Amino acid sequence: MTQDVYLTGITTTGTPHIGNYVGAIRPGIEASRDLSTQHFYFLADYHSLAKNEDPDKIVQSTLEIAASWMALGLDTEHAYFYRQSDIPEIPELTWILHGMTAKGLMNRAHSYKASVQSNVEGGNKDPDKGITMALYSYPILMAADILMFRSSKVPVGQDQRQHVEMARDIAQRFNHHYGETFVLPEAVIGENTAVLKGLDGRKMSKSYNNTIPLFAAEKRLRKLIMKIKTNSLEPGEPKDPSDSTLFDIYKAFAAPAETAEVEQAYADGIAWGEMKQRLFEYVNDHIKPARDTYERLIADPATVEAELQKGAERARELSAPFLDRVRNAIGIRSLG
Ligand code: TRP
Repeated sequence: MTQDVYLTGITTTGTPHIGNYVGAIRPGIEASRDLSTQHFYFLADYHSLAKNEDPDKIVQSTLEIAASWMALGLDTEHAYFYRQSDIPEIPELTWILHGMTAKGLMNRAHSYKASVQSNVEGGNKDPDKGITMALYSYPILMAADILMFRSSKVPVGQDQRQHVEMARDIAQRFNHHYGETFVLPEAVIGENTAVLKGLDGRKMSKSYNNTIPLFAAEKRLRKLIMKIKTNSLEPGEPKDPSDSTLFDIYKAFAAPAETAEVEQAYADGIAWGEMKQRLFEYVNDHIKPARDTYERLIADPATVEAELQKGAERARELSAPFLDRVRNAIGIRSLG
């Protein structure tokens, strides 16, 4: 049995929120404590070009995401932690994989199809309006990320499953054509990791603008938690935890015994205002130590940069020789 290699990327388009924390960052850091497996976590900054983001926002997001993982204690001696654009072998491999990717496969990508559909529904004459080639071939760049480090397991949200399957298809086709080169990856969809709801009760997501930033300052955190939508049940009336964003968030942070206590408080008719205060205190206590570290890192980007450079150096020890092997296999090689 070869050891499993876990790899996942985080696009640099936004500030990490508590949904990212419970869904990806916390499980990632926990998993990386298992020294019998290898872990790669990287900032997918080239992916952010698909939507033509504001350059300053990409820089800021890169800093915030890297500082978050560091502040929360990712062991960067064991896990590989790097920025995609520091690994020039990744865009090279992306182009190489273009030669093994059927255009029809890309036509079937959900994210591309969703953009076309919204153009059609919006009455646009051109169904491809506003769609860049970076958006269209996004799954190929993602395949390069995955295949480069021969990852076998790719922890992602449900919305990324198809992309991982595409990486697998592309790898299979390459191996068939040029000989065994790539490991075939599979998606790991966290069944136990919570998908949190946001302030308005919809899935917490930066595209809905309903997030609670993970390291919001204390005052802001409190204010945001006070804004979470509840129903109109009065204090003293029993409340249903299974239909409560406040409860879901509490549960995602707390130990089972504490969650059971809050469940009882719901049955006893806790007032929404009191529950909000309780949630705020819990989350704030939980986050506080890491938030102090986070704030120090944000004020000291050079330290974060140095960490990313160290990660890139380690990652390139793997990617550079592997890309040589790939180039050799496809006939891009020295003549003498
Ligand atoms: N596309 C992923 C997302 O939006 C991020 C990502 C980029 C990724 N490259 C990856 C995830 C490789 C897993 C593996 O969430």
